[in-house]
Amino acid sequence: MHETTFGLAGVMGWPVAHSRSPLIHNYWLQKYGLGGSYVQLAVQPGQLATALPGLAALGFKGCNVTIPHKVEALKLIRDVDANARRVGAVNTLVVQPDGSLKGMNTDGFGYIQSLLDAQPDWRADAGPVVVLGAGGAARAVVLALSDHGAKEIFLINRTLDKARAMAAEFGSPVKAVAWEQRHAALQSAALLVNTTSQGMHGNPPLDLDLSALPVAALVSDIIYVPLETPLLLAARARGNPTVGGLGMLLNQARPAFEAWFGVLPEVTPELRQLVEATL
Ligand code: ATR
Repeated sequence: MHETTFGLAGVMGWPVAHSRSPLIHNYWLQKYGLGGSYVQLAVQPGQLATALPGLAALGFKGCNVTIPHKVEALKLIRDVDANARRVGAVNTLVVQPDGSLKGMNTDGFGYIQSLLDAQPDWRADAGPVVVLGAGGAARAVVLALSDHGAKEIFLINRTLDKARAMAAEFGSPVKAVAWEQRHAALQSAALLVNTTSQGMHGNPPLDLDLSALPVAALVSDIIYVPLETPLLLAARARGNPTVGGLGMLLNQARPAFEAWFGVLPEVTPELRQLVEATL
């Protein structure tokens, strides 16, 4: 194969062995008949600044960036798009023709697309949104919802100051709400999102009473291990439509693949099953 047509990309993180990204991107490389490979790039904390300048020389189209490098990458790259800057983290780097790196963040796209995959007529402005958690993942989710037209986003976090700081930074429509108010805040919500670590494999379930939540409200959890968190099970049992976190993982990979390889790939049932089988 000719050198210039072989596409190389990867995921830079530490630890990185558990990442599902190689499975996803290598599936697409094969499906679209593209010569190339997506590899694990185990880069230790503190080594990012040394590793990044090597990408172009090694012939990489770019890479994903994951824990613990997502925030550090933003500081090291000069050319970061407006969305990633607002999120405060970079999850995708693209090698430019001149060898420099461009930084983006596709998590918000992935989240919105996962809702649309589940409910094609979903709209961000359908009613109030309740977001639990105010960490890194919440930033991408809240900004994406706001950019898609959500009129009211109640941001509820165990540490209220973090929710307040985010609300002040992002402005209207984001409003900080105390953790103790989380049960009552569900009243009239059209969408509920969990971005906390509660409910993840190895953690206790999210302590949330769904009684006040309208049965038509969409309930989403960005956790994908397990595929169905206790929150989603409880929501489904009372009749709410639900969306798990796997869709966000699969969909955040699509714009990255497009930026490197020139094809916006599809999330097929086959790909979903392939990844589910590893969870
Ligand atoms: P991520 O990048 O996945 O968002 P993070 O930035 O560490 O990870 O954020 C974790 C989120 O889970 C935070 O909102 C955190 O709340 P605090 O800001 O109060 O720490 C939330 N979280 C973690 N453990 C929690 C618990 N036991 N109860 C409620 N929220 C919790």
